[in-house]
Amino acid sequence: MSFNAESAMRVNPPAPAQSWKGFPKYNFVGGHNDSASIPAKELAVSVTSILNREGSDLATYGLQSGPQGYTPFREAIASMLNRRAGMREDANSILVTSGSLQALSLIFDLFLDPGDVVLLEKACYGGTLSRLRTRSVEYVGVELDQEGMRADSLDQAIRQVKAKGKRPKMIYTIPTVQNPTGRVMSEARRHQIIAVAKEHDLPIFEDDCYADLIFAGGRPPAIRALDDDGRVVYCGSFSKSIGPAIRVGFIAADWPILSRLLALKTDGGTGAIEQMALSEYLGEKFDAHVDSLNKTLKTKAEAMADAIDEHFGASAEFERPKSGIFLWLKLPDAVDTSRLYQVASSEGVAINPGADWSTEETYGKKRLRLCFANPSVENIRQGISKLADICHREFGIPHHSSNTQRQ
Ligand SMILES: Cc1ncc(COP(=O)(O)O)c(C=O)c1O
Repeated sequence: MSFNAESAMRVNPPAPAQSWKGFPKYNFVGGHNDSASIPAKELAVSVTSILNREGSDLATYGLQSGPQGYTPFREAIASMLNRRAGMREDANSILVTSGSLQALSLIFDLFLDPGDVVLLEKACYGGTLSRLRTRSVEYVGVELDQEGMRADSLDQAIRQVKAKGKRPKMIYTIPTVQNPTGRVMSEARRHQIIAVAKEHDLPIFEDDCYADLIFAGGRPPAIRALDDDGRVVYCGSFSKSIGPAIRVGFIAADWPILSRLLALKTDGGTGAIEQMALSEYLGEKFDAHVDSLNKTLKTKAEAMADAIDEHFGASAEFERPKSGIFLWLKLPDAVDTSRLYQVASSEGVAINPGADWSTEETYGKKRLRLCFANPSVENIRQGISKLADICHREFGIPHHSSNTQRQ
């Protein structure tokens, strides 16, 4: 008789993951990046020179820098944040993490108990929503407009949570290139959100991993840059500006928070070679890389927006992306994007159904997220055409199949 592994596990173990079968042919999900833009040669030069110089430091956990991360890297992150996001960091206010997903987990573990309530944008990163659900933390969606999360709706939502006798515990926001709407919160709105947080004495968790990907013009200062009393805990990542497989992110916070997060980070440290490779790269080379990456992303964003116009016509409502790696699309009420997701997946087209990225079922049901950074322009054109055909077949929308529309 073979070992019954499941019965040896804890009560309610997670459902088993599927073994990986490769990427689908038309892959419009996941925060993948443009392959040709990865600065592999420059990173190789950086890592070789540091390993030649300091490679023997790999002998100790945390190198010669301690558990917060490689000191020259933290200094480089701090100066990048100060230069690009108007922040006032130094190496001591930075904790290097294994991707910003680890940052999310650490911050949620520090602040949230089961039953607590987090206020967040009503369209929100699926990875955040699932992390909150697994902690039995509730979330309440706040309205968004062109300037990002609405401060009046936030205030109202907090009051309603309190009126129900529940505990609002944190404001979580993706203010710069909001996932999935792509909105960039205005500077004025950032001040208003801080004012609401102060009024209710709540911390703000600013998740800023897309902030470098604004195609033209600069970014507004980080909310953390505008805060004056240490209530903003900030996380960033190199997944979107360099590549997700590198698995390096970071937290910026004042010491009363950072020191507790550090106590929770018991993984022996984030990979040192990645930190070393990035640390020499982060100055002017990084800025030039991001400028060039944004040009490529803009071309792909336009290709996807054009393909949607061509194949979905008036059935699709969306904003042409000015930043980021994804597009948030609304289809008519007759479409259920969770079903579209299932049928499209079985035919090699991967999409994110809106239900996974929303706090409200009816809002999410007719929406979907499409990522454009990794597929080629040709693949985007073909994949969107195929998606329109599938949607037409399943829901009669768009009203004509994309082949007919093209004639
Ligand atoms: C808003 C947001 N936060 C965090 C992450 C996690 O990214 P990573 O762990 O690769 O830094 C993502 C990934 O897509 C994201 O969209």
